[in-house]
Amino acid sequence: MKAGTGESKIVLEGLSKRYGTFTALEPISLTVEEGEFLTLLGPSGSGKTTLLQMISGLVDPTAGRLLVNGEDWTHRPVNQRGMGMVFQHYALFPHMTVAENVSFPLEMRKLPARDVSAQVEETLRKVQLDSFAHRFPRELSGGQQQRVALARCFVFRPKVILMDEPLGALDKALREHMQLEIRRLHKEYGTTVIYVTHDQEEALVMSDRICVMNHARIEQLGAPHQIYSDPETVFAAGFIGHSNVLKGTRQAVEGASAVITTANGTFTGRYTARDQATTEVALVIRPEQMRLGQAPSSEFEGVRGRLTDLVYLGSERRLLITLGDGETIMLRHDPSAGSLPSIGDEVATHWPKALARVVA
Ligand SMILES: Nc1ncnc2c1ncn2[C@@H]1O[C@H](COP(=O)(O)OP(=O)(O)OP(=O)(O)O)[C@@H](O)[C@H]1O
Ligand SMILES: [Mg+2]
Repeated sequence: MKAGTGESKIVLEGLSKRYGTFTALEPISLTVEEGEFLTLLGPSGSGKTTLLQMISGLVDPTAGRLLVNGEDWTHRPVNQRGMGMVFQHYALFPHMTVAENVSFPLEMRKLPARDVSAQVEETLRKVQLDSFAHRFPRELSGGQQQRVALARCFVFRPKVILMDEPLGALDKALREHMQLEIRRLHKEYGTTVIYVTHDQEEALVMSDRICVMNHARIEQLGAPHQIYSDPETVFAAGFIGHSNVLKGTRQAVEGASAVITTANGTFTGRYTARDQATTEVALVIRPEQMRLGQAPSSEFEGVRGRLTDLVYLGSERRLLITLGDGETIMLRHDPSAGSLPSIGDEVATHWPKALARVVA
């Protein structure tokens, strides 16, 4: 597959799904570029699987269109899409060896025997299972079985691979290892991957872009760093990384910034909400953007509160500070900023105005 030939560009135009009167997915429009790794991230029931299955052909859309390389594939049968699929419960064939499981998709495609064995061998080497070719699935660990499932998917070099929580059944260490493995295979083969997870760390590690979903719609679509540093909604801010959220009412808007009044004071922040009708907004500040101490200049704003807890996270310490209205905020302790206050102390905090965001 050559890059940039538009061989696996996927366009969704108002694709939606209803079951009777229940809306599983509101109309969704987005473009997945060739070779992109796009992650659908959202809580349970937000519509991730529904969206993926409409792309796979396993679920028929209620309305809208699916275009692949400009062709209308909305109602094309699953077996004519040639997409690879890996699901949480990777169904390996129990009566077939690892090599037979992996060669299955190639035999279905009637490849010459010599090519089959060469391709199977190469793919098993890529997932480091070449010495397990003759074992049966029941003789493998969960992680090894998952790697067989990946090999069985990558072996026929699909241009598009759809994965639905493929690592959900694995422990944390193995999951982290497999995340990098999948990323490596994706890069090596230039495959377009659409990946479903509800694990935000997994989404941050793996994706070129993340599509944050909630209540059957897209909350925000963007590169991981973009969503992390520029969340557009309270939901996106809270779902990706930790955020300090001070709820309040929007006052003046000036250019790309807005003033917000909260129970803990009046603040300013960047404001680029798509929906500017509502005045119920929140100020969002990431823990690492907050520091202890008085605001050193007018470029900063802050709140006062009482230190209520210290959390040790191995690589860093977090301070929990309870504000006057009972709201708790969290900030990262900066060891270079001097000695740690004691629990119960009243402390001042500050953050750069330019990094705070007002979101709807
Ligand atoms: N066949 C169906 N009939 C009726 N409702 C359905 C059907 N399939 C899914 N739904 C509903 O559609 C909504 C979205 O489901 P979906 O499986 O897409 O969620 P999800 O984001 O994948 O959640 P999870 O993280 O739990 O897998 C849910 O409320 C679900 O109950
Ligand atoms: Mg699902």
